[in-house]
Amino acid sequence: MRILLLGASGQLGSDIARLWHGKPGLELQLATRAHADVTDLAAVRSLVQSARPGIVINTTAFHDLPRCEADPRTAMTVNVVGGWNVAAAAREAGAAVVQFSTDYVFDGEKRTPYFEDDARRALNVYGAAKIAAEDAVRIANPDHLIVRVSGLYGLAGSAGKGGNFVETMLRLAREGQPIRVVADQVTAPTNTAEIAEALLPILRDGLRGTIHLAAAGETSWYTFARTIFDLRRLTPDCTPTTTAEFGGPVRRPLYSVLGSARVPRLRHWRDGLERYLREKHGALS
Ligand SMILES: NC(=O)c1ccc[n+]([C@@H]2O[C@H](COP(=O)([O-])OP(=O)(O)OC[C@H]3O[C@@H](n4cnc5c(N)ncnc54)[C@H](OP(=O)(O)O)[C@@H]3O)[C@@H](O)[C@H]2O)c1
Repeated sequence: MRILLLGASGQLGSDIARLWHGKPGLELQLATRAHADVTDLAAVRSLVQSARPGIVINTTAFHDLPRCEADPRTAMTVNVVGGWNVAAAAREAGAAVVQFSTDYVFDGEKRTPYFEDDARRALNVYGAAKIAAEDAVRIANPDHLIVRVSGLYGLAGSAGKGGNFVETMLRLAREGQPIRVVADQVTAPTNTAEIAEALLPILRDGLRGTIHLAAAGETSWYTFARTIFDLRRLTPDCTPTTTAEFGGPVRRPLYSVLGSARVPRLRHWRDGLERYLREKHGALS
């Protein structure tokens, strides 16, 4: 299996690169923005044609939510035009495309896990861009797998978001600042290493269409933060707040847990978190 991975320096991309390295029967070629900006069709075409892959994986995104609200043109260009370019270039080269998407394509009204066929309705610019990106990929390349994931954190941290939620919580605790975390947004934060490991057998099986790949269980961001502190034996001044009190420019779904009718859910979010903390910060006491 010959795979070209775009976004290889991101948190999900770098975990795919790290965990798939040397796997039997797999030739993995890594690409970053330096190899091709996904908004540049000619550059993407040339990269894909020279790599001659069977599958192109696109983990690139513009997903800093406040910046997406402030700059919808860039959000649409990177996510939608970029998604189209990668999918179309893959089709021209006879390759399948894997496009990553998000729980934020849903509005959160459902209050039980969202399945692959549930109706999408975005509440913000990023979610709208990812819905359009999903549709663009479906049209540009019939040989596609769209993988929706939620609340990512990985060893590399997200350059676009300046780290990840776990590291932000640990930094605020170290700095001794009072911490307020929303307790009314429920999701399943997912370690990117767990996604990387689950995806490879899915690709080997040749699954196509749309799937949800997220940690099992569900939690509010507040409970997730408290679990991080408990696992690291930290006792910061951390209080729950509401989305309304917290404010900010972005409307977010209050419930965005992903279930799947097609693939098993990953391990429980707490297992993924323990693994992350051990790998990033050493043994848990
Ligand atoms: N993070 C989350 O909580 C979350 C939740 C749900 C879904 N997702 C989706 O999961 C996927 C992976 O997210 P992630 O957290 O791993 O993202 P990430 O760490 O921010 O990585 C994104 C990568 O995309 C690259 N990139 C951005 N714009 C580009 C462009 N115009 N051309 C080429 N490369 C570009 C970035 O490169 P530079 O470093 O050069 O900018 C970076 O390597 C994305 O599709 C995202 O929408 C993420």
